[in-house]
Parts: sequence; structure tokens; C-alpha cells
Amino acid sequence: MKKNKILLCCLLTIFGIQLNAQYNNMWIPDTLSGTNFNLTIKDTFAQIRPGNQTITGGINGKFWGPTLFFNKGETVHLNVKNKLNDSTTIHWHGMHLPAVMDGGPHQVIPSGTTWQPYWKVTNNAATYWYHPHLHEMTMEHISKGIGGLIIVRDNIESALPLPRKYGVDDIPVVLTDRDINSSNQFVVVPYGDSMLTNMTLRAQYSVPAQVIRLRLLNAAIERSFNIGFSDNRTFYIITSDGGLLNAPVALTKYILHAGERIEILVNCTGQSGTKVDLKAYNSQLGNFIAGGENFTNGPFANALGKKDFNILHLNIGAQTSSPITSIPSTLTANVLLSSANAAITRKLVINDSAISGGQFGPNLFVINHHLFKLNYNDYNVPLNNTEIWEITSNSVFGHPFHIHDVEFNIISVNGASPVAAQAGWKDVVFIPGKTGNTSAVVKFIAKFDDFADPLHPFMFHCHISLHEDEGMMGQFIVTDNSSKINQIINLSNGFSLYPNPANNRLYIKFNNLNNKAYYINVVNTVGKTVLMLPKPELHNGIDISGLSSGVYFIQLTDEKTKQVITQKFIKE
Ligand code: C2O
Ligand code: CU
Ligand code: CU
Repeated sequence: MKKNKILLCCLLTIFGIQLNAQYNNMWIPDTLSGTNFNLTIKDTFAQIRPGNQTITGGINGKFWGPTLFFNKGETVHLNVKNKLNDSTTIHWHGMHLPAVMDGGPHQVIPSGTTWQPYWKVTNNAATYWYHPHLHEMTMEHISKGIGGLIIVRDNIESALPLPRKYGVDDIPVVLTDRDINSSNQFVVVPYGDSMLTNMTLRAQYSVPAQVIRLRLLNAAIERSFNIGFSDNRTFYIITSDGGLLNAPVALTKYILHAGERIEILVNCTGQSGTKVDLKAYNSQLGNFIAGGENFTNGPFANALGKKDFNILHLNIGAQTSSPITSIPSTLTANVLLSSANAAITRKLVINDSAISGGQFGPNLFVINHHLFKLNYNDYNVPLNNTEIWEITSNSVFGHPFHIHDVEFNIISVNGASPVAAQAGWKDVVFIPGKTGNTSAVVKFIAKFDDFADPLHPFMFHCHISLHEDEGMMGQFIVTDNSSKINQIINLSNGFSLYPNPANNRLYIKFNNLNNKAYYINVVNTVGKTVLMLPKPELHNGIDISGLSSGVYFIQLTDEKTKQVITQKFIKE
């Protein structure tokens, strides 16, 4: 294996120039839109490079998944079918939604089961994503290629003169790297030797000679990308993770950390017939930023470390009809949260710990002095609280910190106001490593509105999947003290199912009309869950048309008491 790698490196060096000259046309994920989305996760194969196919994890296709278009204000229903041999989860990164729909480590989808979360989209227009989040398995499942983009549209963004033709002048660009072994299989390691842009090696794309919009997602396991162009041209950042910035921010370099998204405008007007490369200038990254280290051996050594490399070769061609040819001067007017309204400042601390047991090295990183435990809750956040989270890092390494449920505003990074490109809505913030003996301190402010749930927590964690899997994660629940349980409504009165037998839709009637379903599992006779319905909208009935005929059980959890009652039905 080592020998093969060395041989491969020699061959690559000898034939390097020829190989680099062969670009592959960048794959563009399919799109799904509307309010009902069917996603089937499965083990599959993809032709990543000549030779053996690569075993991958795909959603509806061979690799990665479709881009989902959501409209702000609409309620979206997702049917997520897990056809992997493993359990997994699908987390809607950046979406504001009930914890029980969030797809974190507590919303496990067993193999063979369909999970049906739904929520009203309240997020601003921007680029979000979905990805697996099963505890200790996130790195492995993301490495397979499971994930996808979410593009939210809203009225403000739609009214702006911005490129909006998907795959033409509005182009998704998902950044990852993989270690591909000599039999063309992905190796589950924090850093790969090969850049994959939309799962394409040495990607190229033809773009029109006008303003183009690139939606950049850092979907890497660990690596940060110091984005720039080969001709050092200026590009314009128009979104932070969770929405438009007030105005485009003109830059020539920008570091995108794991989990983060930016949308950029690039003006190619008048440049038909020319070429330019989108690159990672990672030789300029500090030693304690992921991808800026210079490991020569050991499990973190990789061909891209502290190097500059191509992300996407752009061939600029003819203009389209009705092109956008100028960069707008303003975008929106964000109303950010005010520290004066904060009810509490929560102080979190990140440390390098001496706890050993890491898969790839002796150092584990911990938040609040403990590794993640599924049953340990760090915080109870009262519903509607506005809070400042102050994160002090004593780690030498930089960590992209992500929180579920909310988009936040950065207050300060080591005492300084956020840079312009981060002065909007964010859900990942880079916590720099300490400098000398001085800890890094980052503060953000967020409002925890709409969704309380005493049972299902939201996560906060480092978005480097290796660190997350190794325990650099904590959790909080949002609780609503105003709705005390003043009357325990006993479910023992039960509910009835009709029609029974049923073949299409099954309806539930509670004997006590105050009962509400918090969760329904449909379980077959051998105890396997086949359908998972968080907070089901029972007036529509339960769609059982996809089940094969036989006997099933409905396990219904009551909203208030969390009591579980089981009833049998027959699928015709
Ligand atoms: Cu994108 Cu909890 O993660
Ligand atoms: Cu998330
Ligand atoms: Cu980390």
C-alpha cells in the first residue's frame, strides 16, 4: 500500500503535466423543487476516475445528492429512505426547525426505514446543505459522498439583479478532498490527496462572459480552502452562511472553513475565449488552520497540505441572453441582534486534552471539559431567549464551531468586530487557535425562538468531522416554561385506527381529543421500524401505500406525557 503510493507519486510526477492537462467536466447535481421531496440514500458505485468504480454513498443517484430548492414561507415535507446497510441520519445544516426534525445524532434512521420530517421554511435565501450526522459515523458517511445542497429562495433575493440560472450562471461548487487508494476506493481519513469539486477530479466548467454566481460549500472532512483566482481578480461575496450580506464584499482571497458556505459573484463580462482557475492558496494558510499544516508523514500527511492547488478551471464562453453584467452595490438591510437584549452570556471553553484514544492521533479536542455523551445535556435554553455565546479556546488549533437551530451574528473575534464578509447571518464561526499563551475568544449572539422540545436536543460542535466524531460536541435543549403540563392527559384511553385493514392511508382517532401525537413509529412484526413520523400531521392520515402487505404496529408517543401506546393494523 505504502509502496504503491510512492510508485503512484513517482508516476504522477513524471506524467504530472499531461495528467493535469486533462480536465473533466464538472458534474452538476440534479435539482428537486416543490414541497415534497423523496430522498433515497443508498450504497452505490461511481466512476470517479478510469479503472475500478468507487464504492460511494449516493442520494437518488451515484454520489452526493440532488440540490433541493425551498421557498421561504412554504412547508416542506421530506421522505428520507435509508437503503444503506447501516443506520444513518440526515441533518439539515443551517435550517431553523424543530429538534425532532433536525436529523442530528438522536434522529437515527435505521436501515430500511423511511423518516418523514417536515417544517415551515423560515430561513433567508442562501445556500445550505444536508449531510449525515450519526454519532461517531459522520466522517465515514460523509466520506462516502452522502450529502446535498439546499438553495433557499425568498422575495428579497428574488428581486435583486443576481444570476439565477442553475448550472449556467448560478453554479453550485462543492469542495471536498478524498484519499483514493490504488483500487480506486475512498479511504476514510481526515485529509485526502485529491481535490474533488462536485465530486469531479480536475474539474473544468464553461461559464458565460457575464457576472456568474458560484455557491461555494466547504463539505470537506477537515480542510479549509483559501479561495482565490489565478489572475488574482476581485470577487464579491454576497452571502454568509445564512443569508445575504448588506452589500457585496470585494476580496481577492477568502478562507472557507468546514461546513461554511459563501456565494460569490465573479465578473467575466468581455472575457469570452479566456480561462481562469479558481484555486485554493493553501500555502498561505497558517500552520494551525486545517490544510495549512505541513505533515510529511503520519496519518495527516497528504499531497494537498500547505500547497496551492486548482479547484475549478473556468472556460469563459459566449454570453447568454439577458445576462447580468454588473455587481449590485447593495443587497439587503439586515437587522442584527443587539447585545442589549441578551438574557445571558454562556461561556464555553475548548481545550486540547490529554485524553487519548483518537483514531488518528493522541490529541482529542474537548468542549466544556468533556467529550460528547448522547445523554448529557450542556444547556437548557429558555424558548425565545436571546443569548451571547462566548467561546474561549485554549487549543493550539483552529476549529470551525457550528450550532444547530439558529443563525447567529458574530459579535467579536479576539475583541475585533467581524470582517465584512461575516457581518451577517452565520451558523459556523472559525475559532482561531491560541496565540502564545493568549487564548482565543469568539462571541456570537443568537435568538432561540419557535421550537421547544424537552426530549430532543440540538447540537453544537466542531465541523471538522474527525473532531466531532471523536467527541468535540455538546448539546442543548430549548424548553418552554410557559406551557407547563397542568393536566396529565392519560393516553390509556387510547386511539383507534381506521380503516383497518387499510391499503393507502391510515387515520388515527384519539378517544380523548386533547391528545396529540409527538412521534409515530410504524413497526413490523419482527420489531423493525419501517416508518418514522415526527409530529405527524394526522388529519392527512399516514401514507402506508409503500408498505408491503401484512401486520404492523403503530407506536404512538403522546405530545404531553411522552407516553407510548401501541396498536395493531393490517396493511392489505
Ligand atoms: Cu453540518 Cu451538526 O452539522
Ligand atoms: Cu448543522
Ligand atoms: Cu475541531
